[in-house]
Amino acid sequence: MHKTLHITTYGCQMNVYDTQRIEEMLTVLGYVLSTKMDADIAIFNTCQIREKAEEKLFSDLGRVRLLKEQRKESGKQMTIVVAGCSAQALGGHILKRAPYVDLVVGPQTYDKLPELLAKIERARISGVGPGQGILGIGFPKISKFDKLNVPRGFHGVSAMLSIQEGCNKFCTYCVVPYTRGAEYSRPLEDILKEAQNLLKQGAKELTLLGQNVNAYSSQSPKGNTVTFSELLYRCAELEGLFRLRYMTSHPREMTQSLIQAHKEIPQLMPFLHLPVQSGSNRVLQEMNRQYTILEYETILENLREARPDIAFSSDFIVGHPGESEEDFEQTCQLAARVGYSQAYSFMYSARPGTPSALKSQLPFEIKQHRLYRLQEILHKSQLAFNISKQGTCLPVLLEKKGKKTGQLLGKTPYMQSVYVQASPELIGSIQWVEIQQGYNNSLAGSLKNRACYSLNNTVQ
Ligand code: SAH
Ligand code: SF4
Ligand code: F3S
Repeated sequence: MHKTLHITTYGCQMNVYDTQRIEEMLTVLGYVLSTKMDADIAIFNTCQIREKAEEKLFSDLGRVRLLKEQRKESGKQMTIVVAGCSAQALGGHILKRAPYVDLVVGPQTYDKLPELLAKIERARISGVGPGQGILGIGFPKISKFDKLNVPRGFHGVSAMLSIQEGCNKFCTYCVVPYTRGAEYSRPLEDILKEAQNLLKQGAKELTLLGQNVNAYSSQSPKGNTVTFSELLYRCAELEGLFRLRYMTSHPREMTQSLIQAHKEIPQLMPFLHLPVQSGSNRVLQEMNRQYTILEYETILENLREARPDIAFSSDFIVGHPGESEEDFEQTCQLAARVGYSQAYSFMYSARPGTPSALKSQLPFEIKQHRLYRLQEILHKSQLAFNISKQGTCLPVLLEKKGKKTGQLLGKTPYMQSVYVQASPELIGSIQWVEIQQGYNNSLAGSLKNRACYSLNNTVQ
């Protein structure tokens, strides 16, 4: 009997990517993926970014504990693993608070998972130690990616590819530099090999991932520095790549050559997630973001010059310690001025160990009220952007079946989801779609019956 494995994933795309890699690594070893949490191995790939994410972990652990106990009654075992950013940040504290957890493993040590799981198994069979959970956290010098060495299996159209991990920016509110460690960029050749492999398996779109993806910088074997924009040009040369995206970027790293890449690389999609966090220079300084609003808006302007139809998305934090009503007003004004096509906004959450957590905190009600006000502006501008596409014809990459019969779900170049009646054989192709309706979170359109796709998304 094969052992079953279930992974619950919280947090950002980096975790989604890591989950996929862990699944691949363990299925190669004979584990079988299960959709149920009640499996032989239950892994929680955790997020530490806001308090809510941490609370969710402990409530899910409470549930899985019951499953583990039920299994025990019927003579079956369950291994509970806490992985990801909370594992790294909380470490032994998790084992203390949830002693039924067997293993806590940080994001940089996933390559050790098979070994650690085997250790737990051996201890169970022999009845000798460890008797308590094992802790596998640390920041080894060699990246886990290079040690994993498992060819990626891939089914689908749009693939994520992690190219950079960690962060050296130390924004004063953020835990990422502590949970993911220092910036590390994968070698160019490894990235291209993984990309080629994904394209061979049918991927049409690649999203290059990193906490600070445009800070990418690696050394070629000859000792030359490979910058992020160079990496984009190299990816664009790969055969079969229709679309290229990247996230998440930091405004500080939006170099002139990267902006130029948006003009020159047809596969690079006209959509950029460029988090601003606040519209107040004073708050940005408190946050250690290292740019001013003028600098940020100049970058947007230059990007628009390079690619006139480019759409922007952002992250916002409201209620950072010290944020005055006037500061917040400036954030609202910025949001309205830019006209984001999408945006994520969060109430500031004090994270232990970060400098902002030590400051005097704003009352919850103020933060909540500000969040509602900002979200109203952001929702409006998202809807306006979607409506602005009504009546236009857009090249849509069809990705999968929609919920309704005969319907497919695809993406516009601007990352909007589009529902369209189309045959499943078209999955994986780019089709021209006439947009009929723009909604809050999606578009509805109909197929245009002409094959007029070209790589730079212009009518042929
Ligand atoms: N590296 C990216 C994103 C990191 S985390 C960047 O620099 O933008 C994703 C988002 O979570 C951040 O952009 C920020 O908006 C939000 N975030 C991070 N720490 C937070 C905190 N303590 N409270 C609320 N939101 C936070
Ligand atoms: Fe966190 Fe700032 Fe790094 Fe983004 S750039 S991961 S917000 S420290
Ligand atoms: Fe969360 Fe870690 Fe991502 S803290 S947002 S899972 S990098």
